[in-house]
Order: sequence, then structure tokens, then C-alpha cells
Amino acid sequence: MFDDRVLVLTGAGVSAESGIPTFRGKDGYWRNLDPAKLATPEAFAKDPGLVWEWYRERRERIRAAQPNAAHKAIAKLAQHAREFLLVTQNVDDLHARAGLPKEKMVQIHGDIFVTRCSRCNFSRHDHEHEHEREHIDIPRCPRCNALMRPGVVWFGEELPWGELQRVENYLEDGPCDFVIVAGTTTTFGYIVDWALRATASDGELIEVNPAETPLSEFATQRMREPAAIALPRLVDQLIAQLPKL
Ligand code: OAD
Repeated sequence: MFDDRVLVLTGAGVSAESGIPTFRGKDGYWRNLDPAKLATPEAFAKDPGLVWEWYRERRERIRAAQPNAAHKAIAKLAQHAREFLLVTQNVDDLHARAGLPKEKMVQIHGDIFVTRCSRCNFSRHDHEHEHEREHIDIPRCPRCNALMRPGVVWFGEELPWGELQRVENYLEDGPCDFVIVAGTTTTFGYIVDWALRATASDGELIEVNPAETPLSEFATQRMREPAAIALPRLVDQLIAQLPKL
């Protein structure tokens, strides 16, 4: 155990090496459709079947995927840090399957395996439904009969209040010694804001991303490598630096 507070922020790049396509860039396109246009309330209102098809394919791909060395390194760091929180924009379950406990993780854009009602507050976990393609109908709410939708945050929607509160509480509890931002374009202002607030008292801000991002200029260390290469090395270095009690 070491006496450090750590915040890790991750995005799609961390799951890229598990074979999950990122959102931006050519790999993200599905049948020539831009995910940034599919992951919207407007796309669901216009063609819920199409949006469900896309999510079902993603669910299947995620079920078949395995956590990679980046997910495992983050779970290892969590075991050694005195206080630790991961805030991931990923809706897959690969951080959890790498062994990171749920109480140390916030899925700020939701969970792809949750199916929730588009009208009332009914929701269920659909992880066990292995054969998505057999469920070709659009699911309906058993309570109010409205269309069910994936339990993810779409463009233009608000972040889940309870999860947002967990991030705020962690930031308010004190500054972080290390913030690692891995595999995200940091398109959303709140990601940049959390990283900067957490390191405002001279904490180290480490960016892991092969490409430059809006956060890069603020980083104290930039690792321009794939996350599955950089993170295991970084985590071992951080753990080795700790005072041996
Ligand atoms: P993006 O798909 O926008 O960006 C992926 C980032 O990962 C880019 O900055 C890449 O350079 C980087 N990257 C690619 N391969 C990598 C690798 N092997 N190792 C490390 N980094 C790598 O994904 P996000 O930034 O996560 O939101 O996207 C944020 C949000 O926008 C998503 O959660 C989703 C999306 O639209 C919603 O659906 C609300």
C-alpha cells in the first residue's frame, strides 16, 4: 500500500487493443454510419431498430472480447493506491472483468448491458442474454410498454446524477498525487476539467495516447504509445517509487 490518491480517466483507446472500435476515426464507422450520429436521441426516435442493431452488435463484440494489459494494469494500480477512482467513458465491462471493483469505478457514460425504459424508470441488466441476434424486436417496457433503450448516455444528454456526484465527492475529498488520462480525445470539457482540478495542487498529470489531445499541453508526462504497452510500464514504475514501509 502507498499513501497516494490516484484518479484515472479512460476512453475508447483503452479498449481498442481488445478489438472494440473507438468512436472517432474510420474504425468507428458502422455500415458507413457515424457513431456520433447513431448515439443520439434523434437517431433513436427516427429508427430505434437501427440503433438497437448497432448496440446489439457492440454488445456481442464486447462479450467476445477480453480485457487487455491496460485494463489489468489499472486494476493493479487500484490495489496499491491508498485512494483510487477510475472514471471511464467506456460503456463496456472490460475494466470490471480485469478485476477492478465496482466501488472504485464510475462509468460516466453508462453501461451498454443495461436496458432501460425510454419513458419510466424501469431498467434491467441484460448481460446474460447471450444471443442478441435472436432478439430482433425492439424491447418494450414490462411496466409502461414504452420502447426500451440502451442504458448509455447519448450526445446531448445529461450525465447520470449519482455517478457525477461520486466524481465530485472524490475531487472534493482532496487533491490527487497522480492523474492518468488514457485513450481519450478529451472532447468533453468535463474530462479536462476533472483532470485539471484533481492536479491543481501540483499533482502529476500523465497522458497516455498515441495522438495529441487538448489536454496534452497541461500534462507533466506524455506517453505517445498504445495504452496496453505504456500502462503496465507506468504502473510498475509508480508502484516501485512508493515508500517501502
Ligand atoms: P474516441 O474514439 O473519441 O477517441 C479514442 C482516443 O483513443 C483517441 O484520442 C486515440 O488517439 C486514442 N487511442 C487509439 N488507440 C489507442 C491505444 N491503443 N491506446 C491509447 N489510446 C488510443 O473515444 P473517447 O475519447 O473515449 O460518448 O470518446 C469519448 C466519448 O465520445 C465516448 O464515450 C462516447 C463518444 O462519442 C458518448 O457516447 C456520450
